[in-house]
This record gives sequence, structure tokens and C-alpha cells, in this order.
Amino acid sequence: MLVMTGCGADKTSGASADGEERVFDVSLPLGEGSHHDEGLKKFKKELERLTDGRLSVKLHYNNELGGEREVVEGMGINTIDMGVASTGPIGSFVKDILMFDLPYLFKDVDHAYAVLDGEIGEELAKKIEDQANVKVLSWMENGVRHETNNVRLINKPDDLKGIKHRTQESEVQVDTWRAFGADATPMAWPEVYTALQQGVIESQENPIPTILDVRFHEVQKYLNLTGHVYSPLPFMMSKQLFDSLSKEDQDAVLEAAKLATPVQREASQRLEKESLKKLEENGMEVASPDLEAFRKAVEPVYKKWAPEINEELINKVRNYDY
Ligand code: MLT
Repeated sequence: MLVMTGCGADKTSGASADGEERVFDVSLPLGEGSHHDEGLKKFKKELERLTDGRLSVKLHYNNELGGEREVVEGMGINTIDMGVASTGPIGSFVKDILMFDLPYLFKDVDHAYAVLDGEIGEELAKKIEDQANVKVLSWMENGVRHETNNVRLINKPDDLKGIKHRTQESEVQVDTWRAFGADATPMAWPEVYTALQQGVIESQENPIPTILDVRFHEVQKYLNLTGHVYSPLPFMMSKQLFDSLSKEDQDAVLEAAKLATPVQREASQRLEKESLKKLEENGMEVASPDLEAFRKAVEPVYKKWAPEINEELINKVRNYDY
């Protein structure tokens, strides 16, 4: 029998006995062909291979199952099976995760990979499991975030003064953009395109492949390479659902996620280069500001938030040998 796990109801009632076929619903904030999608398609392929087609997934694009915050909440109460989400909205459930919102935390992507793939990544995954009731299967990649707006090119923090900027639903991000001088407002991801189009906000920030995927070039003129945050993309599953699987099926899910993660990260890196070119071809003007003044402007954000989040962990991450 093929059990389709629909959305919105507790999923454990449909839990599989050994050998049963299952199709898990997976939430994606982006569309088909995005760097999120490439990783999840690989996951699907590997999961089907490892279970002889007994386990599979249905990918739901463009927030079809809800905004990221709702999706994480849904996995926590087992009404949503699986999903990827950037870490911003997870900080309100698991305080240590707010660390990823601190600007210029990582020196480069290799630094981020070393931290996420080592014992710190494991500890953080365990915290998400314990505090949000969500199983982290692997750390995929959203990417390095850059600011876009339709007001002006940004060469120094002062250029952001008074610009109406959208942040993710994170107080650390609101403080960061206020420290840069912007007029910062938190907003859920599914509302951002329309808010930019209607002029409710003038600015947002996201990785370059995301900016192209959601066609922000249609409503934003300037792309400013602020590189202020490396944004991980945890790939997650309802813990209740994961725990209801047989050991063999749990191992298949974990192994498929492990095999999909480097493929997803590679897609993210490749699409970062390709998308920058396409955004320029689509008329966006690009600035590469000197980041020293941006780093300096956010020192008060570290002073305020590091003790509040977990200063020991943040120092460990910043000084991580890789
Ligand atoms: C956001 O800005 O809310 C996210 O980066 C969207 C995403 O996860 O792609």
C-alpha cells in the first residue's frame, strides 16, 4: 500500500510498519531549479535507491506548505513531515541558533563548513531536536547573504540610512540593520516580494541564487555585496515522524541526506557565480563595498547579543581551527 502523508494533520497515525511504502512531504522556500531543489532532488533519488523505491518524497516549492517559521513549528508538532529553512526563523525556538545571524561570524564558507560538519554542528542539531522537537538530518546551504534595494548603491553603512529594509524574523537581524543605519522591519519570507513591489519596503538581503530564483531583479535595482552573513540551511524532519520509522528506514533517510548535502552545497556555490552574471544581465547594478566599516558598525550588536546567545560558543566558532 502507498501511504500518502498529506499536510496539516498529525502524521504519526500514518506511521509505517516495517516495509511499508511512504511518501514524505518536503517544504522548500524556493522554486524548482533552485539550489535548495538540486539538493532535495538528489535526496529523493538516493532515498528511493536505498529503499528500492519504498520511501520517497514530494517536493512542495515556494512556501506551498507555509512560511519557514510555520514549517518549523509544523515539524515540531508533526503536522509537516520535512523541510529546509534558513536559520533566521529558528532562533526564536532555539536561542543558540541566533548565533548564525551575527554578522561576519565566519571568515569564509570553509570556516562555516568546518563548524557545521564538526562537533558544534552536531551539538546545535541536538539542541534543535531537544528544544524544537525537530530532527536535523544535515546542514545544507542557503549561502552568503547580500543586500539589494531600489534606492541607491551602497558603499558604506551610512548609505543605508533611512532605507526601509526587511529582515528575517530575528531580533539580532533587526539590531544589525539598525546598526547599519537602515529602517529595519522583520517580515516573513512569503510576503517579501509583494512588499518590495508595493514599496512597503525598499530593501532585503539574501544569497545571490535566491535573489535570482525569486526574481528580485524585477523589483530591485541595486545588488550590494555586503556578505554580512553565511546562512546555513538545515534539512529537517518531524522528530515524531523520524522516531516512528524503523531503524533501517531512519538509516536510509540519514544516509540519503548525507549524500545529498555536498551536491546541494556544490549547486549553491555554482549558482552563486552563474546567478550574479544573470542578475547583471537583467539590469542590476552591483557594488562591492569595503567591508571594514560594516564590520565596525556591528560591534555593538556582538556586545549586546553574544552574552545573551552563548558567548562561549560564539568565541569557539570564531576561533575554530579549520
Ligand atoms: C529569507 O530571507 O527569509 C530566507 O533566506 C528565504 C530562504 O530560505 O530561501
